[in-house]
Amino acid sequence: MRKILVFGGSFDPPHLGHCALLLSAAKTLRPDGILIIPAYRAPLKNPAGASAAHRLKMIHSGLLPSLPASWRRITRLDLSEINGKRRVYTVETLRRLKRLHPKAELHFAVGSDSAADFHRWRDPESLKTLSRWWAANRPGHFLAARDLTFFKRLRHAMPDISSTEIRSRLALGDGARKYLAPAVHAFIKRHGLYGENLPDRLKTQIKSRRFKHSLAVARLAEQLARRWGLDPAKARLAGLLHDCGRSIPAPDMAGYAQRRRLAVPFLAAVSRRQPLLCHAYVSADIARRRFGVSDPAILSAISKHTLGGRSMSALDRLIYTADAASTDRNYPEAKKIRALAFQDIDAAFRACVRQKLCHALSHDAWIHPLTLQLWNSLQK
Ligand SMILES: [Fe+2]
Ligand SMILES: [Fe+2]
Repeated sequence: MRKILVFGGSFDPPHLGHCALLLSAAKTLRPDGILIIPAYRAPLKNPAGASAAHRLKMIHSGLLPSLPASWRRITRLDLSEINGKRRVYTVETLRRLKRLHPKAELHFAVGSDSAADFHRWRDPESLKTLSRWWAANRPGHFLAARDLTFFKRLRHAMPDISSTEIRSRLALGDGARKYLAPAVHAFIKRHGLYGENLPDRLKTQIKSRRFKHSLAVARLAEQLARRWGLDPAKARLAGLLHDCGRSIPAPDMAGYAQRRRLAVPFLAAVSRRQPLLCHAYVSADIARRRFGVSDPAILSAISKHTLGGRSMSALDRLIYTADAASTDRNYPEAKKIRALAFQDIDAAFRACVRQKLCHALSHDAWIHPLTLQLWNSLQK
């Protein structure tokens, strides 16, 4: 029976992990045909991603050339999901392929991280009957025994990388090149995709000491996100941009917040007493307008990193903690709080709030009501 290897994904961007997975599946299966099916991505869902046209160009210049010529000849790009301009579930695609190739046996290859999420895909029971399933182990994402009952394992080693991680690295200018085909990396650079050079842009807008602090917060935020199961890419981006509005001089800060009608709590009192306390809200506004961040979770974490808030998400608390305990902080307890953050993030967050209060009191400074509320809400 004719075997068709199906390889779907967003390819945003295509990277060496995709190449390794495709090669491994092709070597193992020796298929008669290979179908690469890039997913359509709603334009508003992830504005940090690349357009369909750009993703296709990168597949042509990076993924296809990684295949030996004999397999390239039997490979087709299936654009039905992209041309449909809507989110298409894999089960729909496989049903369509079954209709088109009723005599063929379909084989679908995924990384072990996707395989582990299989139960959350649309209609997993039908998926199991429509295709045979292959999974490759990514380091750190080993398939549990229960997943292996219908997934067959591809034996070749995979690099430990995902598109999310690569987008985050590109945004921070932090070593993504080694995970990409040279042509893909060059394409990304040429078209300025994924916020590439974002640190360079930030560097021109804030003072050098603030820039170093932002990098330190981004690094710590990413490490903490990995430790506590949050999205490392979001944490890095929030950490990098958390102070992007901090360079506005104090006398202008409250004016900016008023002009932009930012929801700074107790704005009148803040502008009279400590206008710099607006900077978190101003930074979130600038992150959205100048740096194109639209993810509400990231914008919320940026806006709450100084005063906190009445309700704070895990990411909000993590960025608050990473800012107060980053490696460039030199108050005596900073190192201890940093270590604590890897043991008990809630205790570290509480220690940061306490530290801010003590600092304000020791300087006889006005304390924002939200900070007091936050402290009180943390009392058992
Ligand atoms: Fe700040
Ligand atoms: Fe900061």
